[in-house]
Amino acid sequence: MSKMWELFQGNSLSSPPLWFMRQAGRYLPEYRKIRETCPTFLELCYTPELATRVTLQPIERFDFDAAIIFSDILVIPQGLGQHLSFESGKGPQLEPLNLSFFQTKLSFAGFLSQMAPVYEAIRLTRAQLSPSKALIGFSGAPWTLALYMLEGEGSRDFAKAKQIAFQNEKLFSSFLDFLVSAISLHLIEQIKAGASALQIFDSWAGLCPSSHFQKWIIEPTRRIVSSVRDVFPEIPLIGFPKGCGANLIDYSSHCDFSGISLDSSTPLSWAVKNLSSDLILQGNLDPLLLCAGGEPLKNAIISIHQHMNGRPYIFNLGHGIVPQTPIKNVEDCIKWVRELR
Ligand code: CP3
Repeated sequence: MSKMWELFQGNSLSSPPLWFMRQAGRYLPEYRKIRETCPTFLELCYTPELATRVTLQPIERFDFDAAIIFSDILVIPQGLGQHLSFESGKGPQLEPLNLSFFQTKLSFAGFLSQMAPVYEAIRLTRAQLSPSKALIGFSGAPWTLALYMLEGEGSRDFAKAKQIAFQNEKLFSSFLDFLVSAISLHLIEQIKAGASALQIFDSWAGLCPSSHFQKWIIEPTRRIVSSVRDVFPEIPLIGFPKGCGANLIDYSSHCDFSGISLDSSTPLSWAVKNLSSDLILQGNLDPLLLCAGGEPLKNAIISIHQHMNGRPYIFNLGHGIVPQTPIKNVEDCIKWVRELR
């Protein structure tokens, strides 16, 4: 825990350290300018010099305490051989995977060479980023990746993917095992390239029924954390099981994370009471409050700080920043967070 705290604390000695999920992206004019020069979003992800530029943009503009490498959780399926494209207005499109054939359709053969530009972007970013700032690498969690891979696209309920999982529980478990290996490898390579902390995004944890939460979320995630820690015992690891409610108690007590990212629906008083005081908490500010700005934003910042009641925490959002967020609100938010004592 203290390792994680030291890493993020950086320059902010009295106010909480701060970074935002999706801090690089479309709300920034300088991001849109670089994005325009790339025919596709994926080309931006896979061009190390450009991925480095956009990773550093929010640090240069706002002096956040951490950078998060510009990439996407869906580069893993692509690296394993599943066709991926991002079409404007439609979000990610994956060639839907037939679960029965995952072992023949997917393989590790080209994985590291496909991912090489991501690791190169991390090396370049680390070289240009102030040593006082954390550089966060990341990955999707097995459950969230499996849902996208089986559904073939984003969805509100991932009805098709979940039906496949329920009808083929044994095979689905081996599929999750396969993803555990790919994700562990990807995370370890990111540390080797220079990532100083990692976050595992389980954006759709809230869609996993409690009856299967242990098997489909906790156990696979625990094994990833454990294989990363076998190689890098001290690396700060943050879990983000979005929307999982009270399952967060078992998730955080079984997975050996250093920090937990809280979505906006989690009551902070509940989290502070029920999660180990060894965990660094992060998050919770509703991204639409940042978008709305003004007095409601200021009150929400103060409320988060009061709930944390002297416990070390990292200021962050409960989910990614939305593209229509005014820059002025981000500036106000940072100023108000840095005034906290
Ligand atoms: O600044 C950062 O946080 C780092 C970059 C980052 C992106 N995606 C860039 C991105 C990170 C950490 C992600 C994670 C990610 N990607 C998640 C988990 C977090 C979450 O939001 O729940 C998920 C589910 C994805 C999959 C994904 N990527 C979707 C569903 C979409 C389309 C939705 C959208 O916002 O357009 C993306 C595209 C994407 N990933 C963009 C960015 C900046 C927008 C594409 C563009 O700029 O053209």
